[in-house]
Amino acid sequence: MAGLFLSFEGIDGSGKSTQARRLTETLRSKGHAVTLTREPGGSPGAEEIRRLVLEGATDRWSPETEILLFTAARRDHLEKTIRPALARGEIVITDRFADSTRIFQGITRGDLTETVDRLHALMIGIEPDLTLLFDLDPAKGLARATARAGVELRFEDMGLAFQEKARAGFLTLAARHDRFRVIDADANPDAVAESVWATLAPHLATG
Ligand code: TYD
Repeated sequence: MAGLFLSFEGIDGSGKSTQARRLTETLRSKGHAVTLTREPGGSPGAEEIRRLVLEGATDRWSPETEILLFTAARRDHLEKTIRPALARGEIVITDRFADSTRIFQGITRGDLTETVDRLHALMIGIEPDLTLLFDLDPAKGLARATARAGVELRFEDMGLAFQEKARAGFLTLAARHDRFRVIDADANPDAVAESVWATLAPHLATG
């Protein structure tokens, strides 16, 4: 497949969405074709599933049901948005991808790693070329995330211990896979944007 597939990951409030937007603008200003997308969502069908998983009570779904819903959303996102953009040779930046399921469904509430991995192999089957992990103290992330108004607070409502487990899980995953780069997300947004650019630049096709 042509194109370059990038994912941004991190705990809630890590600032990755802001950085994904900034990187998209920078790349476009340099003439690159970029599709900026997000999960859960990124296609009309997956955006409908987004509402089901992000709104409502924390105990609305079991982790097992969540795995199915997030994977269903991801499959539609892949078919309708990601694969077509990569086939056009574009840079795809997705704000979250399969690593979020590995962490938020796979390890935070018991060990469902094998279930997540098997379903991923069966239904998704691809990994990003590069994954930027935005690492931040969960207390700071949660303060930022809950300060935002809105109804998409199901995961934020799971609390600090949940986010701490997620952070540790992401760092472990990053240490295991070469495609990860860890970004210190506790700096000011300009400094974070600079580290994002320094990390990505060597991977861009030149000329
Ligand atoms: P997101 O929209 O990225 O929120 P934020 O901008 O606050 O980081 O993600 C919303 C929530 O969805 C987030 O709390 C993590 C959760 N999530 C999962 O639990 N599993 C998944 O597979 C994905 C993609 C997201």
